[in-house]
Amino acid sequence: MVRHFTDEMRLAVLASGSGSNFQAILDAIDRGVLRARVVLCLSNQPDAAVLERARGAGVTALVLPPRAAGPDAEREAIEQGLSESGANFIALAGYLRLIPAEVVRAYHGRMINIHPALLPAFGGPGMYGRRVHQAVLAYGVRWTGVTVHLVDEQYDTGPIVLQEPIPVAQGDTVESLAERVLEAEHRLYPEALRLFADGRIRVQGRVVRILDLQENA
Ligand code: GRF
Repeated sequence: MVRHFTDEMRLAVLASGSGSNFQAILDAIDRGVLRARVVLCLSNQPDAAVLERARGAGVTALVLPPRAAGPDAEREAIEQGLSESGANFIALAGYLRLIPAEVVRAYHGRMINIHPALLPAFGGPGMYGRRVHQAVLAYGVRWTGVTVHLVDEQYDTGPIVLQEPIPVAQGDTVESLAERVLEAEHRLYPEALRLFADGRIRVQGRVVRILDLQENA
């Protein structure tokens, strides 16, 4: 069962890259569309642009220890960052590492990820960034899209919260497809977070039900 946010959603964003989804979340909060506060930005990449965005927005930005420090050091740094920031919800936004199982369990039903394809197709280990769009084009599917899903202990397999299909056009390139998919991500991710913040998500097994507004009144 998912905990509801009677109080404010205190969000930690884990990201490894440019952070355009991180920015979309901040923008949605600024516009008053999403009632939440971003309390932490965590990255495994010391030079990730997302860290600069976070610092610029006054959000605490933490870099995780290098992989060579070992899995315990990584897990401890994540746990410490989360507990010091008081984060009660996690959004993965282009985070390229598997989340330690202890953290997944501690944030059960309160951690989501965004994936640039229609899961369960074109997901799993190694399927990130350009590789997803390359695989979509190579397979010749007519539709791709965006998936927001809850995080479990594997890559891209958790219960699906929201999906948006996007047609693959003849002549699409990795770049043109990535651009359209990313544009949709920037709408869908804040929307998914809003559903959680408003307490409108129920999870049964791997099926997510979205309550309408009256049901949640
Ligand atoms: C997005 O395409 C997201 O779906 C994937 O990684 C990318 C992150 O982009 N998981 P950005 O760093 O948010 O710009």
